[in-house]
Amino acid sequence: MYLTKAKRVLGLAILAAALPLAVLAQGYPLRPITVIVVFAAGGPSDTIARLLSDHVGRQFGQQLVIENVAGAGGTTGTDRAANAAPDGYTILTHHSGLTAAPALYSNLKFDSRTAFEPMGLINTGPMVVLSRKTLETKTLAELVAWLKEKGDKATIAFAGVGSNSYVCATVLQQQIGVKLAMVPYRGTGPAMNDLVGGQIDVLCDQATTAVPQIQGGTVKAYAVTSAQRLASLQDVPSNKEAGLPGLEVTIWNGAYAPKGTPKEVIDRWNAAIGKFVADPAIIERFAATGTVPFPPEMRSPAAHAKFLTEQFEFYAKMFAAANVKKEEAK
Ligand code: MLT
Repeated sequence: MYLTKAKRVLGLAILAAALPLAVLAQGYPLRPITVIVVFAAGGPSDTIARLLSDHVGRQFGQQLVIENVAGAGGTTGTDRAANAAPDGYTILTHHSGLTAAPALYSNLKFDSRTAFEPMGLINTGPMVVLSRKTLETKTLAELVAWLKEKGDKATIAFAGVGSNSYVCATVLQQQIGVKLAMVPYRGTGPAMNDLVGGQIDVLCDQATTAVPQIQGGTVKAYAVTSAQRLASLQDVPSNKEAGLPGLEVTIWNGAYAPKGTPKEVIDRWNAAIGKFVADPAIIERFAATGTVPFPPEMRSPAAHAKFLTEQFEFYAKMFAAANVKKEEAK
């Protein structure tokens, strides 16, 4: 009559295995959800994922647990998410790097174009060129002159091949015609710590985490990677104003589920992301750190899928034009 706890759990597991995923999606979520972040804690990807998870967790009445699976420019964590059960209990948040990876790696174990169900675009914004505080340069022109003089004795941090900081460092070096010493990190969180500590000369980081450091006076800022200044960084010139209009880099974030995840789950997440980015407190938080939500017409899973197609194309062209050779993800 009375089953032991172990037997009840076993019975539920057998029942779950026998039920189609769509039926399991009813009442979703029934247990905590893992959110995979593909870079180290404390960086911009982690910051956005934590804000989202906190908000969606409250909406769902369930705990969302962040797992930082960093490495190989975000491809290690992406692989983990691609191979997770498509049941809505493992979710991926990722940025532009998802669409840059196929142009940069020769041995990806997943197909970025088909491994995921896009659940919705979150936010977009520019990056900011930063240096350690102790560097004597004051303007982007002065920084460029210093970098030209130092060449590969000057260090620029990045979060692995395919990360946004990699894209920005690549564009910067192309634009100024100098090869710098690229120093890899598992995310720009730890890279920023070393910039603040003065162990690294330069970092181009997303506004999300760059703005608080600039405002706190722990690093120097030279230009934002967009044609407009950021309201939260009124003293930092646009790329045009700083004399380098070609330094144009736009980042964006989205949420994904493994391919085959029931539509009910995707729709619940899409609605939850919509509520998250429409929350005035989140809009204010985004604005304070130089990022904005995607407009409503770009927030459906279908619009997200269309955007991804364009971005795969964009990065393939960008890296082909820059003659960047594919490498092995390790
Ligand atoms: C991070 O969170 O570390 C960044 O998103 C990495 C990057 O793309 O530069």
